Order: sequence, then C-alpha cells, then structure tokens
Amino acid sequence: MDMATRIAQLRDEIEQHNYRYYVLDTPAIPDAEFDKLFRELQALEAQHPELLTADSPTQRVGGKPLKSFAEVRPRHGAAEPTGAGVAASHLLPQTAGFASNVSKVLHRTQMLSLNNAFSEDEVRAFDVRIREALGIAEVEYAVEPKFDGLAITLTYRDGVFVQGATRGDGSTGEDVTENLRTVRAIPLRLSKPVADVEVRGEVLMFKRDFAKLNGEQRAKGEKEFANPRNAAAGSLRQLDSRITASRHLSFFAYGIGLCEGVALPKRHDQQLALLHNWGVPVAQQHRVVCGVDGLLKFYREIGAQRAALPFDIDGVVYKVNDIAQQQQLGFVSRAPRWAIAHKFPAEEAMTTLLDIEVQVGRTGALTPVARLAPVFVGGVTVANATLHNQDEINRKKIHIGDTVVVRRAGDVIPEIVRVLNENDIPPYNISDAVKGVCPVCGSHVAKQTDESVWRCTGGLFCPAQRKQALLHFASRRAMNIEGLGDKLVEQLVDSGIVNTPADLYDSAQCGLPVLANLERMGEKSALNLLEAIGHSKRTTLARFIYALGVRNVGEATAKDLAQYFGSLDNLLAADVESLQQVRDVGPVVAQSMADFLAEAHNREVIAQLRASGVYWPEHEQRRVAELPFSGKTFVLTGTLVALTREQAKEKLEALGAKVSGSVSKKTDYVVAGAEAGSKLDKAQELGVAVLDEQQFLALLETI
Ligand code: IVH
Repeated sequence: MDMATRIAQLRDEIEQHNYRYYVLDTPAIPDAEFDKLFRELQALEAQHPELLTADSPTQRVGGKPLKSFAEVRPRHGAAEPTGAGVAASHLLPQTAGFASNVSKVLHRTQMLSLNNAFSEDEVRAFDVRIREALGIAEVEYAVEPKFDGLAITLTYRDGVFVQGATRGDGSTGEDVTENLRTVRAIPLRLSKPVADVEVRGEVLMFKRDFAKLNGEQRAKGEKEFANPRNAAAGSLRQLDSRITASRHLSFFAYGIGLCEGVALPKRHDQQLALLHNWGVPVAQQHRVVCGVDGLLKFYREIGAQRAALPFDIDGVVYKVNDIAQQQQLGFVSRAPRWAIAHKFPAEEAMTTLLDIEVQVGRTGALTPVARLAPVFVGGVTVANATLHNQDEINRKKIHIGDTVVVRRAGDVIPEIVRVLNENDIPPYNISDAVKGVCPVCGSHVAKQTDESVWRCTGGLFCPAQRKQALLHFASRRAMNIEGLGDKLVEQLVDSGIVNTPADLYDSAQCGLPVLANLERMGEKSALNLLEAIGHSKRTTLARFIYALGVRNVGEATAKDLAQYFGSLDNLLAADVESLQQVRDVGPVVAQSMADFLAEAHNREVIAQLRASGVYWPEHEQRRVAELPFSGKTFVLTGTLVALTREQAKEKLEALGAKVSGSVSKKTDYVVAGAEAGSKLDKAQELGVAVLDEQQFLALLETI
C-alpha cells in the first residue's frame, strides 16, 4: 500500500471513530486504540509533510498561537470578495473580553437569541400567541434541551469545515476557527459535500471533563473555573489553540443557518436528523410534541433528568416544528416569535454570608458551614452552604459579611462559588475563630503539617465526634442499624444513654423502657429499633472493621484488612509493619490503624461489642496467606462466556487473589475474554501471562 493510501485510510478510520464517539455515542474501540491510530497518522504525516491536509484529524491538536496584530481572514470566498471583508472588519467594534487581535466574522445569517419563559403561565401564553397567529387549534413543536455553553456557527464549503465563529452580537462574531478545529466533536468534513452551509450549535464542556480540568488546575496552582460554561468559554477564547486542544470540549448542533446546494427538509426535527446524518453531533434528548401539555411534560421530564445528564443545561427550548409556519411567524427584534426558552429556576443567586459556624465531624475535622441570608436558588430556599476547609476559604477569600454567589445544582449540597466584593483583608480563619479550642468539647485543636484541616483532639470524649462515630457505626454499609438516625443519636448521646457503640447492645442502658421514653419515639418505634440492633449483631469482619470508624480506613481497606488477617484477633495483634503487608495499605493507613489499636479504650469497646454478641461467620476466618492465589494479581478483560466478570472477580478474591483494573509489571495473569482490547496488548507488551477463558476455567478447576 502506498503512503498516501495508508494516510487516507487512517484519517478515515479516525474520523469514523470520532463519529461513533461523538455523534452515535457508541464508541467502538478503547481510547488507547484510538491514540495508537492517531500516533501512526502523526508519524506518517511528519515523514511526508507534502501529504498533510487541513482536514486531517491531526490538525486538531492546535497550531501556532495567533500573532498580536489584527488579522482578518475572510474565508467565505464568494460571499466575501477579497478586500471587502478586510475593510468592513476594521470598522467593527471590538468585543470586550476577548483579545483585541482576533479577527471578526460577519455572520451571513443573523445568530438570533431567544425570549425566555420562567413559568407555566408564560409558556401557555406563548402557545396561545402561536395558535392565534397561525389560526390553528394545536401546534406541533420540536423540543430540545437548552445547552448551557457558548453559541457558535460553523461554515462548511463543499462539505469541508472552513470557518467557525462565536455568536458575538448576533451579526458579528469572533473568528475561532483554529480553536474549533481542535474540538473532536466537530467534524472537519461532512458526510455530504454540501456546497455552503452554516451549522448552528453550542460548544460546551461535559461535567466530568470540567471536574478533571479543575482538578488539574488545582494541582498546578492555577485558577479554577466556576462552572462548565465558564470553562468552555475560557478554553475556546484562547489565542493559543494548543490550549484549546488540551481541554476537552464538546459540541451539539441545534439548527442550520444559511444553506446552499441542498434543499432542506420542511421540519425542524428533520433538519436535526439531516445534521446527524451529515455526521454532526445532535443531542439525543430532542423530540416532537403536540400542544402546550406536550411542552410542559417535556420540561418536567428533562428537569428530572437534569442532574444525571452528562452536561449542564439551563432549560429547554420549544420551537414551532414546521418551517413554513416559522417563516409566517417571523421575528421581533432579535428573537424569533416561533421559539421560546423555558428556563429552569436559577442555580446561582446572590446573598449575604451572615455567619460561619464551625462543626465537628466524625474524625474531629473542624468543618466551616456558611449561614446565609435565605435565598431562592435552583428551586429551593437555601440558608446554609458548605465551605469545606480553610484552603477553600483562602482560595475564595471569604469573610463574614461578604456578598457571595451561591450555587445549588441538582441534589448537590449548596456551595459558595465566589465572593463579589473581593478585597485584600485576610480571609476568615477557622483556628482564630474558635480560639484554638473545639467549639463542642473545648479540647485543643491541631493541624498536621501536611493537611489543611484543623481537628479537635478530644476523640470520643468530644460529643460531636461521638455522635458522628455512632452514626457511622450504624450506617448502612457498616453495621446497618435501620432507624438509628441523627435525631435519635443526638438524644441518646445528649442524655448520656449511649456513649460508645457497645452501649447500643446493652439492654440495661438502652432497653425498651428507656428508648420508648425518648422524644418522638413510642413503644412501636422503640421495638423496631431494638429489633434492628439485634439484627445488626450478625455481621462480617469487614463491616465490623469499617464500622469502627478508624481514620483513613474506608470500606475497601476494611475488606482488605479482613481478608488479610482473617480474624479479629489477628488484626488486634498486628503492628505497623504487619499492617503494611496488606495490599493497598501504605504507611499512613497502617499508622492510623495502629494508633487506633493502641488506645486502651478502643480495645475495651471492641471487647464489649464481642461480649454483647456481635459476631461474624467463621468461614471468613481463613488467613489470606494460606489461600491458593494469595499474593497474585489478576486483570480481567474482554467478555467471558461461562461467567460474568463480576462472578470471576468474586471467585478469584475468595481464593485470595487481588483483581485489578489495569495491567502493570506487577500483574501475574491477564484473563482475556472475547474482544479483549488494549489491556491484552499491554500484557503482551509487558510479557504478562495471558489466559483465555478455557485456560482460566481449567485453572480454577485445579484448585
Ligand atoms: S435556537 C432562532 N436551540 O440559547 C433560535 N438555542 O438565548 C436560535 N441555546 O444563543 C437559538 N440551546 O446559544 C437554540 N437547543 C437550542 C439551544 C440554544 C442553547 C442558546 C444559543 C442561543 C441562546 C439564545
């Protein structure tokens, strides 16, 4: 095969994968495979620069930064004869906020805005206006999400992407072609060589990509973005397209501007389907509905899905579906009469930070909580917001009395996004505020050098920690005592009935007469609670360890400890060194566990719990070191036929193996089912033993 053919083939294949990933939402190969194809293409193009083309997918990695002088690049050809675009552009005002050296683009069809509706009544009024203007009884609407990103327009000539621009003021936008080229969701070539078309849509950043980007920004000590929309805007409006390329932006189309060379279908939903056929990403959450009831039903449905959607939306958009009817309705100033955005209640609102209260968590961490002047945001009234820790307060420069922006998204705990009256006064300081002592028990507070968290040193002497410890002990994934919630724990601790988890099982202290006398209790609830406490006695060693609430010992570590030591006595006899023998247990976790076990009162509580009948079945009590696969690490990949991966994992773990998600030099076996991908390659590369399903089953049989 000659070089040009191979290059063409690779480009095709890569664009095909982009299409499957972004348009069809069904990726066919793992990212690593994609990267391999990409690197091969890059290498071939580097060897043969004469074969490089502008629409090669490798051109998505960003080019040289724009120079610092105004440069106007008319790309519309026939629509903008040489010279005219340049002259006109120099007369255009610069748009604030964007580097002044970026060239302007005159949109050939206006980029409109939308009128908003904030209530059902406004939506009903919209529907009435449409029906009256058209003189019909019921209207067919195309309904879709309102993406919370940045509007852009993409120009394709003969099916090739030639120019992309922001909305700007609707008539003129900024030329961001080079940056948009780096966005993998934007096809560089349409599947049809349409003569001249403007694709309208929204650039946005998926929530997961936003979280990742902010994590990276934090790690680099750089400014974090307030929300995915700002992150998308900041990433697109870059002079250096290599920065845009390094950010993971996405794109959804919602319409067509000018179009020459093909006759467009007569309905909006059909136009979206056409875009999809051309290979342009269209979000799947769009539909055709009838009448106002259909509109409101869609609003509620999308509202319910909102938090779970991978991207932010700020409402839904209703559009008259029939294009002829759209034309009949026309525009008022810059907004069409035939469409409206039905907005969700705002997720951000401004309010005053009245006070900061310091709460004490299970492990003694002092947690600042913001008390706010109540404000309606995201559909509910918010009066409290989390402030996380001192680092967060410093980063956001927060003081009591500040005017702040509060955000509440979905079910997420409200948080302060930023302070509006930023100043240089030192931010609120937790340790100063509590004067060095725990606000609950008066023990002194301390901070480890490598931590940003102040902690009360009172341990279980501190009622706040005691309450949290009890709640953790009773929680579902620990001892699972149904019905033991925070109000009850509060009463039990404050009245001195329960001081340690062991007291829960002591019928003299925590029996029926005492419980039934508590506020909001009564005999029936008390009996239920006692039954739940009784049930919880039968547990597993892993749950028991987790329930103890040792710092840094989460559920996974508790399982590892239980599996390794096999019995509680073995664990109680462990020292820091032997604890570190457990897989995934490093020095910090081992030290936490050892510190916990070194406390006489902790051992006493454990002894009391056992004495009161807390137990776990014996079969667990086999030391992992004695198991056939102990010390062996397996990786499962591909599809297995005889059993699910989860079942295979359970079997292996029961035999003492560790099952890991990624292949490394430490991997002992890779079990490769059908269609195994990059993990199999990696295993072969590293010389790790590979078992196919038959060999794997045979191995299990021999045990
Ligand atoms: S249609 C003629 N559809 O909302 C109507 N716009 O407030 C033009 N937007 O600038 C826009 N999702 O950036 C339309 N599904 C959607 C949209 C959408 C988000 C944005 C768009 C526009 C703004 C108007």
